Amino acid sequence: MEYTVEYYQKSADAIRKLVPWEPEIAVVLGSFLGPFADAIEDPIVIDYRDIPNFLISTVPGHAGKLIFGTVAGRRVVCMSGRFHFYEGYDFEQLSAPVRLFKLLGAKAVILTNAAGAVNAEYRPGDVMIVSDHIKLTGASPMRGANIDAFGPRFFDVTRMYTPELRALAKSCAEGSGLTVHEGVYMFFTGPQYETPAEIRAARILGADAVGMSTVTEALTAAHCGLPLLCLSVMTNMAAGVLDQPLTTEEVLETARAIAAPFSGYLKKIIDRMEEVSL
Ligand code: HPA
Repeated sequence: MEYTVEYYQKSADAIRKLVPWEPEIAVVLGSFLGPFADAIEDPIVIDYRDIPNFLISTVPGHAGKLIFGTVAGRRVVCMSGRFHFYEGYDFEQLSAPVRLFKLLGAKAVILTNAAGAVNAEYRPGDVMIVSDHIKLTGASPMRGANIDAFGPRFFDVTRMYTPELRALAKSCAEGSGLTVHEGVYMFFTGPQYETPAEIRAARILGADAVGMSTVTEALTAAHCGLPLLCLSVMTNMAAGVLDQPLTTEEVLETARAIAAPFSGYLKKIIDRMEEVSL
């Protein structure tokens, strides 16, 4: 499939008919982090199935809705339910959400995810501001014919996780009730959790956390020049760190427990985003 700007424009046109304003900030909610969506005021909810040329959510814990509305007085679009490589989507398809945000006029993207902690100093429930990522598997979402309207064929990613937004997120940590770190996220394709040996390798390579999402969206944001903040919630210690198997219940339980303070933290960051000149 050859993608064109018109292909993505079709999704944006359908949304513009339903939402008469431009979102300023786009937020992608990770697994089981959906409760943030409840804080959105005056919501306009659009089912992914009603958006032409978009994808659908197939994973439990991902609602499959775009929610437009207001948070801390700012206009946001929030993706409750994201798409993953392990669902069968290829890397090129996974560029769709961020390209849609760009076409809708968003000025910044906030990605959130659930992740396993590789760094032994981290604890379940901690948050990590992503400073960089490692992706040694899979292709690039920008593989194939380049769409010049979005960005150049070859593009720099040294400031992909925008330093000014990371600094803002750090300064919002105090009083949030959360322990907030900054570190490197390593992508694994999933859906199986990693092996203990992979986690040991990830640690040697410089990873602080591992997960199955985010990197395609981050690369798409870098390609089309969207400032980006990414927050990882440590839902569990990664495989082999503790002498026990990993369970989705554990991931779900931690995510549930942290949902309220995490939503508050996110709201504070959104509230203070005007302090950052992007
Ligand atoms: N590995 C990969 N993805 C994850 C994990 C993990 O340990 N926890 C939550 N998402």
